[in-house]
Amino acid sequence: MKKKLLEILVCRHCQNQLSLASAPNQQEIWEGELLCKHCGARFHIHKGIPQFSSAADHRAKSFKGFGYQWNWRSKQGQLSACYGLDIKPFVNWILETVQSTFNGNAIQKDDWLLDAGCGSAEKCVQLAKSNPRAQVVGLDLNPHLYKYYKTNNLPNLHMIQANLQNLPIKPGVFKFIMSIGVLHHTPDTQEVFKNLIAVLNNRGTIFTWLYPEKGEDKFWSALYRQRDIHFMGLADKIPLDVLEALCHFYVTANFWPMYAFSRFYAKKHRKVFPFSSRYRSLRGFYRSAVFTTFDNLMPEHQRRHNRNEILNLMDQCNVKRADLSLPGFYLGQKHAELRDIV
Ligand SMILES: C[S@@+](CC[C@H](N)C(=O)[O-])C[C@H]1O[C@@H](n2cnc3c(N)ncnc32)[C@H](O)[C@@H]1O
Ligand SMILES: [Zn+2]
Repeated sequence: MKKKLLEILVCRHCQNQLSLASAPNQQEIWEGELLCKHCGARFHIHKGIPQFSSAADHRAKSFKGFGYQWNWRSKQGQLSACYGLDIKPFVNWILETVQSTFNGNAIQKDDWLLDAGCGSAEKCVQLAKSNPRAQVVGLDLNPHLYKYYKTNNLPNLHMIQANLQNLPIKPGVFKFIMSIGVLHHTPDTQEVFKNLIAVLNNRGTIFTWLYPEKGEDKFWSALYRQRDIHFMGLADKIPLDVLEALCHFYVTANFWPMYAFSRFYAKKHRKVFPFSSRYRSLRGFYRSAVFTTFDNLMPEHQRRHNRNEILNLMDQCNVKRADLSLPGFYLGQKHAELRDIV
């Protein structure tokens, strides 16, 4: 953990400032403790990552499920594509879209940026590389964050293990928040969205992707069919190693239809979404299909959000919204004077 991160951290119990209980003079702390002088709470820093998750978080099904998934993924190392998207052009497209929609709101030196639910950290690493003068935070419950923190070792990259339902962050610190494929996996999308808006600064921007409603997009509708019909909505009850084996079996049995559908979809999709990755080998496609199938089946919560529901939520939070017209994508700016800027 870089000492600079102290500027934005607070105690998750009482929201008061934290200080270093050990090694107060080091700029990078690999092992240590954070102390809340107000309520006496202590939080470990382990392998460079400050840890704010609670015992209840560790018992949660989604913690175990995503932990299993990220362990599996980290064995493959960090990849240039994740969930069928090439990361570098995808993240740069997000930044350009935010900038061109809300121009005059460029990211400045020392602005803080957040990847909320960063998973295996490819996107926040790219965010840090694309904005070397800004400070970038990757936050997730993922217990494997330290692997990505250590290997990437960027001077402006920070990581926090915490629950989005109980953020250990000062209000209003972030200039930009992105959260891709995360909020619908928490017990309450609206609550977590509001938590994110609370840590966004005035005129800060938020970019998120959520599962679209059934029927909005052919690819997602196919995944919902897999989860709801082929696995009868029961996959999250299956032990994780058995589920992984079933995903291999499922993809093997359906390989050619899945391959044909994916190629057809990616080709069509690439016209609006140029960073849909191209599979260079059948093996690469197989691995990605097994991972995506597991990712679709494992989570306990997987809500699909109606567009109006999220647009209303943005209104409620006083977030000015831009219509991206792409299934599941939302972009907004906090406390802006105008309402719609389509
Ligand atoms: C589908 S993954 C997406 C990861 C990443 N955003 C990406 O695009 O590759 C969802 C992530 O949300 C994280 N997550 C789910 N619930 C969370 C919570 N309550 N607090 C923090 N992270 C959470 C999971 O650990 C997982 O890494
Ligand atoms: Zn406290």
